[in-house]
Amino acid sequence: MAKKISCLGENIIPPAHVGVIMDGNGRWAKKRGLPRKFGHREGAKTFRTITRHAKAVGVDYITYYAFSTENWKRPKDEVESIMDLFEKYLDEVKDFIEENIRIRFIGDRSVLRPSLQEKMLDTEETSKDFDAMTLVLAINYGGRDEICHSVKTLAEKVKRGELDPKDITEEMIERNLYTEEIPPLDLVIRPSGEQRLSNFMIWQAAYAEFYYTNILWPDFKNADFDRAILDFCERNRRFGGV
Ligand code: FPP
Repeated sequence: MAKKISCLGENIIPPAHVGVIMDGNGRWAKKRGLPRKFGHREGAKTFRTITRHAKAVGVDYITYYAFSTENWKRPKDEVESIMDLFEKYLDEVKDFIEENIRIRFIGDRSVLRPSLQEKMLDTEETSKDFDAMTLVLAINYGGRDEICHSVKTLAEKVKRGELDPKDITEEMIERNLYTEEIPPLDLVIRPSGEQRLSNFMIWQAAYAEFYYTNILWPDFKNADFDRAILDFCERNRRFGGV
């Protein structure tokens, strides 16, 4: 792949992997006296704009927290409207595929609507050789659930006598996460004024930098993304060293 030059400047080395917690959709709608699902609809528009922009900025991977394992607790019609947005997006995704963006999904998809599962598989297959950027959508995703899933896989190996517990390494746990072949997070962006991780990629965010802003996700613009990237470029990352 040719060396990428960031639209933010030749000397800018953007984070390889950015995670985004799309928060504030409900509040955005409430402020306007609208049902929450309108906030998610606007949030989906922001997601598309920021994804295109992230490619121009030069990030290699962008992961969005789109639906958590805890989000099922929301009213049924809100959950359905979010699932409808995913399906609509995957129906229209050809635009992104033309932009040479690979799409992957993380999370337990086995409980999602069969029609959505089919579209997810199809999208992954169609885009698997695209290499301008990888877009990762976390759907029915939970960091604890993911670690639990990995540990169960290793426990099965122990049960079959293929693995000695004392030989279990961090790499083995990592290899069995949903993010196989996806690098750890460098930067996590959370809008809407909340300053927590909420079970988002808790393993992969171990050394991530965090960027918070009060802007609600539907109002988040390319310039806000740029601010987060430039802020990241100023950070001094030590990964536990000095
Ligand atoms: C959190 O905001 C947002 C969600 C749980 C849903 C995010 C989903 C989308 C933006 C749709 C994405 C669509 C595609 C195609 C990827 P919140 O509802 O908790 O906001 P609040 O804290 O203001 O209530």
